[in-house]
Amino acid sequence: MPIVRGKDIEVLFSASAIARRNLELAKEVASRDYHDLLVISILKGSFIFAADLIRAMHDTGLSPEVEFIFISSYGKGTVSGEVKILRDIDNDVAGRDVLLIDDILESGKTLQYTRNLMLDRGARSVAIAVLLDKTTRRQTALEADFVGFECPDSFVVGYGMDVAHAFRELPFVGVVKGDA
Ligand code: IMP
Ligand code: MG
Repeated sequence: MPIVRGKDIEVLFSASAIARRNLELAKEVASRDYHDLLVISILKGSFIFAADLIRAMHDTGLSPEVEFIFISSYGKGTVSGEVKILRDIDNDVAGRDVLLIDDILESGKTLQYTRNLMLDRGARSVAIAVLLDKTTRRQTALEADFVGFECPDSFVVGYGMDVAHAFRELPFVGVVKGDA
């Protein structure tokens, strides 16, 4: 088990497994009939996944535009769980095919809010790509169009995802097991 910051980390999805899966996901995206693709990476958690996925998309011949939206959800796990935009995109989405990229689909509140926002703004289509799907935690009817892996119901870190601002830099996805 890798030791990072004095903690044992169990590897759930290795860097090479993620890289292989990203190429498959990019091919799935490329098989859709997108005319004017705008990728929107949801910060902060998706920045590494988005960076890798858009390069895999390049390898399949896609040339998306790329935007970032900074979303935060308050009261997570509670009924009131409220989603807020901390920094919006600069681009117009009207008439465009939007691909939202996030790290994890859990309750679905973040992605449902963001998807509805882009539809309200007149997007031609809105699809969702997530690295991980925690299906057991869903509180909405939302499903992703492109899913990297089904995620067990544990708190995961790495590959952009953090716990208390730590571990985003890990090249793999893992679970913190405790002091090494
Ligand atoms: P939801 O689908 O709105 O409940 O929230 C999903 C968001 O919660 C993701 O974008 C992550 O930022 C965060 N999140 C959920 N589960 C985890 C986890 O296991 N590790 C790190 N972040 C998580
Ligand atoms: Mg997030």
